[in-house]
Amino acid sequence: MTEYRIASIPGDGIGVDVTVEARKVLDAAAAKHQFGLQWTEFDWSCERYAQTGAMMPEDGVEQLSAFDGIFLGAVGFPGVPDHVSLWGLLIPVRRAFAQYVNLRPVRLLPGTASVLANRSADELEMVIVRENSEGEYSEVGGRHNKGQPGEFALQESVFTRVGVERIIRYAFELAKTRTGRVCSATKSNGIIHSMPFWDEIFAEISAEYPEVRGEQCHIDALAARMVQAPDRLDVVVGSNLFGDILSDLAAAVTGGLGMAPSGNINPPGEYPSMFEAVHGSAPDIAGQGIANPVAQILAGAMMLEHLGEKAAAGAVNAAVEKVLSEGAVATPDLGGKATTTELGSAIAEAL
Ligand code: NAD
Ligand code: IPM
Ligand code: MN
Repeated sequence: MTEYRIASIPGDGIGVDVTVEARKVLDAAAAKHQFGLQWTEFDWSCERYAQTGAMMPEDGVEQLSAFDGIFLGAVGFPGVPDHVSLWGLLIPVRRAFAQYVNLRPVRLLPGTASVLANRSADELEMVIVRENSEGEYSEVGGRHNKGQPGEFALQESVFTRVGVERIIRYAFELAKTRTGRVCSATKSNGIIHSMPFWDEIFAEISAEYPEVRGEQCHIDALAARMVQAPDRLDVVVGSNLFGDILSDLAAAVTGGLGMAPSGNINPPGEYPSMFEAVHGSAPDIAGQGIANPVAQILAGAMMLEHLGEKAAAGAVNAAVEKVLSEGAVATPDLGGKATTTELGSAIAEAL
């Protein structure tokens, strides 16, 4: 029997609640499909930071390198500044393991309270391919003249040819397996040096894929289109920050943040990939047992798919759809009264 070693990092806030439920569902899928998930849990979190002064141990990344996959809840909680928690755990893992693709599929699931719920499910199925290792999320910059009238902050974006080429190529390869359409999120009309560079590389790679229809869309207009005509979108490729914003928007139009999974993928597979929900630790509802575990469960399905367990991944997706379409067990964000545990258990049982 194949055994996969998975590092589980529940993290902070609702990350802890939803990870427990997702593990329950994934274990049920593993048992049914005859493979093993060998979990190792890490307490890396803001709580750990408060106790030890570090989000993870110094050799944290090295410890994770031995695993087949990383399953992350969420990072960040009031009391620890976000730049400390995020640069102390989430971002170093994404970068150390060259997880340069942040894959964020969204589709309109049954039983959701989408602002576009009148649309049929096949109309609304997109995947955001977000650049995950550079761009606007650079460490180049800083604060200057603190406390003085001329105080300012500087932030440099870093777009490398290698970095832009590989993410755009990934989007085109993905589009070949889907509808054959890629939309690039850009801002080439503004005075931003990086975007004409991005557009140029997009055009070059587009020429390599005559079978895929590549188009460019300004990020502002794309945001509007995502709400008003999302059916005209399939694969959407964007820089780190554009992709971040678009993925919450795409989640919102397909039923909310509680429904959107995400994979931080290392495409060559030389390092482990990391799977998490798109949402964060939701301090406003943490500890109340009402977070929607679906996003984390779907992130688990993405992890199974990535590990090559396609049948099990399909079964998890189907179980989620079954429970959502029945509508009897739904968390408050879906208009119901169920707890995180009740929804997790219903999905595990549907398997
Ligand atoms: P958030 O995604 O945590 O929450 C935004 C809103 O959506 C909140 O009202 C929340 O209650 C709701 N929500 C999110 N997930 C939900 C779920 N599963 N079920 C029901 N409602 C849900 O974003 P935020 O408030 O901007 O950030 C909170 C913290 O999380 C910050 O510290 C932030 O840095 C961190 N964060 C971490 C990650 C990550 O670990 N990958 C991602 C995003 C934000
Ligand atoms: C996400 C999050 C992170 C990001 C934050 C918490 C740094 O919003 O995973 O979408 O922007 O990458
Ligand atoms: Mn985000």
